[in-house]
Amino acid sequence: MGTVVLYASKTGFTKKYAEWIAKGLKCQAISLDKVDQAAIDQAEVIVFGGGIYAGRINGLKKMQKYLAKWSNKKFIVFATGAGPERTEEVERVKSSNLSQNQDIPFFYFRSGLNYEKMGFKDKLMMKCFVTILKKQKNKSEADQKALEAMEKSYDVCDQAKIKDLINCVNRV
Ligand SMILES: Cc1cc2nc3c(=O)[nH]c(=O)nc-3n(C[C@H](O)[C@H](O)[C@H](O)COP(=O)(O)O)c2cc1C
Repeated sequence: MGTVVLYASKTGFTKKYAEWIAKGLKCQAISLDKVDQAAIDQAEVIVFGGGIYAGRINGLKKMQKYLAKWSNKKFIVFATGAGPERTEEVERVKSSNLSQNQDIPFFYFRSGLNYEKMGFKDKLMMKCFVTILKKQKNKSEADQKALEAMEKSYDVCDQAKIKDLINCVNRV
């Protein structure tokens, strides 16, 4: 059974997870903008990953267009984000990005922030977001800690977290 991992990554976090997953599945990881038709044609299982930007999974729209063409293939999605792995947050991202009637396994991996690799617009958006949070009164200790973490680059990617996705692909 052939598997391919496709990814859309702006600052490298999703690429890192995609490469770990591809290594675990002994297959190729290909950036969505360099997608190779031959690799797709051979694959029965397509794993797609993208970073979350203001609640949207980067690249998923483009990927959904391809999906129509690849209806005979099994599709698995993962997203990377700076937010915690709280179930209700993950469910919100899943339900607002994937349609309910598509039975697509979904995984979330916590990543971090990389201001050095961020584009101008994304950096500006983050600065605005941080400013708004700073102005909020009566912040809990957890909110204050989250805000402080958000002001600089950090990386909490964890290779061990991909295990469930690997098992999911192997069960297909
Ligand atoms: C402008 C902007 C918006 C973001 N919005 C979210 C978000 O809504 N939820 C979240 O968990 N992380 C958010 N993040 C963090 C990214 O999802 C995280 O850094 C992700 O791993 C980036 O993946 P990439 O480097 O592969 O593009 C945001 C980052 C930026 C720069």
